[in-house]
Amino acid sequence: MRSRHGRSSPEFWTVTNVGLSSFGCIEYDEVMTALETRPSDAYANDRAHVFHSWSAQATLNPIVIAGGLGSWIWDENGRRYLDFSSQLVNVNIGHQHPKLVASIQEQAGTLCTIAPFHANEARSEAARLISEAANLCADASWDGKGLDMVFFTNGGAEATENAVRMARLHTNRHKVLTMYRSYHGGTAAAIQMTGDPRRWPSEPGAPGIVKFWGPYPYRSAFHSATETQETERALTHLADTLMVEGGHTVAAIVLETVVGTNGILVPPPGYLQGVRDLCDQHGILLVCDEVMAGFGRCGEWFAFQHWNVRPDLVCFAKGVNSGYLPLGGVVIGRHVADSFNDRAFPGGLTYSGHPLACASAVASINIFKEEGIVEHARLLGTELIGPELAKIQAKHPCVGDVRGLGVFWAIELVRNRDTREPMVPFNAAGAAAKPMGDLAAACKAAGLWPFVHFNRLHVVPPCTTSIDEVRQGLAIIDEALAVTDAYVTG
Ligand SMILES: Cc1ncc(COP(=O)(O)O)c(C=O)c1O
Repeated sequence: MRSRHGRSSPEFWTVTNVGLSSFGCIEYDEVMTALETRPSDAYANDRAHVFHSWSAQATLNPIVIAGGLGSWIWDENGRRYLDFSSQLVNVNIGHQHPKLVASIQEQAGTLCTIAPFHANEARSEAARLISEAANLCADASWDGKGLDMVFFTNGGAEATENAVRMARLHTNRHKVLTMYRSYHGGTAAAIQMTGDPRRWPSEPGAPGIVKFWGPYPYRSAFHSATETQETERALTHLADTLMVEGGHTVAAIVLETVVGTNGILVPPPGYLQGVRDLCDQHGILLVCDEVMAGFGRCGEWFAFQHWNVRPDLVCFAKGVNSGYLPLGGVVIGRHVADSFNDRAFPGGLTYSGHPLACASAVASINIFKEEGIVEHARLLGTELIGPELAKIQAKHPCVGDVRGLGVFWAIELVRNRDTREPMVPFNAAGAAAKPMGDLAAACKAAGLWPFVHFNRLHVVPPCTTSIDEVRQGLAIIDEALAVTDAYVTG
């Protein structure tokens, strides 16, 4: 049986070196037929009773998603979209992977919930597998500092909150440095760590969180002409910030290893090692927030493995189980964990290490290994998305820059390539954001669900997306960019 998009279900998951998936048992047409005629009260009840995040409630007009499979989602009328957003860049394994679904069903039949103070097989195995993945590039220099322990949370914000709590208690210092171009979550400390405008309405927050500029070669805060210069100048800026803040008062530097929502900013060579060196010089902990960049998104288990730099703490969530159930956490260096051997860690959550979520993390990590998903994501970046985006850039005057790795890419749009004037201003909304709204609408009309932020379109499909599907999505984007080409003035 052929699927609606012209490929049989097993092939749906067949990608370069990725093994045949277990999707052979599901036929896309069958699923679609079952769902096509199932209108519900979801929209009406949503508008009457669901209070949505980050939104003015009266302006919302959500579509009702009825189902998903692999890299596709569809609404109640059977209109389908190629999910080039992975929702909130979290569905790394794709939608409804049957083995992942089965793992949750199986765990539900065994034990749905248990308090964090008990030991539990799903939780123990999840912690072991996550720690094993985090330690993949460990060498002798990691002795005593291996990423051996895992504290589980329900998501990313709780992970960054607790990482900072650990860093403050471990160092007995209070101050934390984070980047202006960053997002670290929506809770009290996490939103103060966040650099982007979502922080503004929550100010003033607790004191002690200081912002610095990270590297961004295309829009350098340091007027650098090359990546090498950008690395040097960004590190000098960070060293100067530590000088005037007092490096000895700083508990942690928290950074997204590859900045996600705020631009897909891949650190230029030498930057991360330079930050590590500054941390060592001042006795500061390096916290890598890999909530978005981790678990295959950058073509590695963790993004820091690209540069073989050792973090003291790693925050994860999203891709650990692709959001099939809420899960996040902190992978903790042995030396930090040891400082809580004889005193209590003052933090906890009723659902820390929830068995259903942990069972899905175990299954997801094992599926990633069986199907070679991390390797596939890496190859998609180097062999397909990177080269194709370079062609798109050459063709469209509105494309100022393309950058990324794995399945984590940004197309940055400008009005004028010479001046680099952004297609829409920083934090644009309403009429000022119209060109990007028009672009998103064109993508959706052609059957692609996009991820748009400020003046960028992010190319962030699931790590399991097939070559054909990536080509299909990029072709839609290529056509849709005519919309923003029309706004080019230079
Ligand atoms: C880098 C980063 N950190 C933290 C968070 C917060 O995660 P959550 O929404 O699960 O709280 C996000 C969410 O997008 C993120 O991208």
